Amino acid sequence: MRIGLLGFGVVGKGVYDICAKMPELQVAKVLCLEDISLPDAEVVGDIHAIWEDETIDTVIEAMGGLHPAYEFVRGAIEAGKNIVTSNKALVANFYDDLIPLAKAKGVKFRCTAAVGGGIGWLSELERANRVQIIEQVGGIMNGTCNYILDSMTRLGLGYDEALKQAQGLGYAEANPTTDVEGIDTWHKVILSSNIAFGISLDSATVPVAGISKITGEDVANFTAHGYVCKLISTGKRTEKGFSVFVQPTLCPQGSPEAAVPMNYNLITLIGDTSARMSFFGQGAGRYPTAYNVVQDCMEFLNGKGFYCEYGPKTAATNDICLSYYVRGGWDGEVAETWGDAVITKPVSVSVMHAWLAEHPGAFIAAIADAI
Ligand code: HSE
Repeated sequence: MRIGLLGFGVVGKGVYDICAKMPELQVAKVLCLEDISLPDAEVVGDIHAIWEDETIDTVIEAMGGLHPAYEFVRGAIEAGKNIVTSNKALVANFYDDLIPLAKAKGVKFRCTAAVGGGIGWLSELERANRVQIIEQVGGIMNGTCNYILDSMTRLGLGYDEALKQAQGLGYAEANPTTDVEGIDTWHKVILSSNIAFGISLDSATVPVAGISKITGEDVANFTAHGYVCKLISTGKRTEKGFSVFVQPTLCPQGSPEAAVPMNYNLITLIGDTSARMSFFGQGAGRYPTAYNVVQDCMEFLNGKGFYCEYGPKTAATNDICLSYYVRGGWDGEVAETWGDAVITKPVSVSVMHAWLAEHPGAFIAAIADAI
């Protein structure tokens, strides 16, 4: 395989290093605007040098961001090249464009590292779908949020201090809002649900609540009541369709999610045959992420393309009812009071997120026994 590598940052350099040890994967050209030279690849500054190189069969996008990553990937597909990317925002935002285009052009497209970094999660969904119906997917998909919540819970840090530490350790995205407001997890659960259920979710119908409003007092409240707060994504097949959402969630102490430390991910599928299976590991970082990028290249050599058929556009229904911890102005029915906060009577996910949109200063966390 002759590869055109777009980007030479954290992931790109990792991919280059791993490929250097694998004779079947030759990085022929690297698109990089910095003045670097590499022993066995040509460094180019113009995407046309890769698009128009007929000896390159596969393009690895490791630039991140939406633009120009989208234009570069689209052009590579048009030029008949297979695509591997770790860019969840790119695939989630342009799913309806890129996946059908790749199929129409007869090229392969994979993005395993986009969800779970080094965990082979999307590949596992593909395997799971061969023999069973997947009922539910989700879990802890963002290492930055888990690091912050874990530091607040176990070490008693305040939110700002924990965020600063996560940034210092390089876990957070360039703009931490993407992590702490749950957008990174939102991209990941949309992509996971599309592949698990064979649909193309209307992202406007997938609500997201982040962790930026949580306080040390909230965390003390959770501990006193036997819970640990995690940012949990859920994609669930229901009688009416699919419920897909991201929200802080109170996991019982002793549950697998509650035990996830530091910046680790724990992602779970529930299948009608396998029942619950969870996957734990590093959801980010140079070599874990590059590992799955390289695995995708190896899947191409084994003849595999995208994980599933491109499915119909689908709106999430979010009719599941849950009890919520709410601090900040809840005016609905109340089951209990926890200090300054309340526990609501069960309310649908869509109703709670509509209420939160009207009360942006409030903090909510669902109470759930599992993902
Ligand atoms: N910022 C992300 C995280 C990186 O913290 O999990 C991987 O998507």
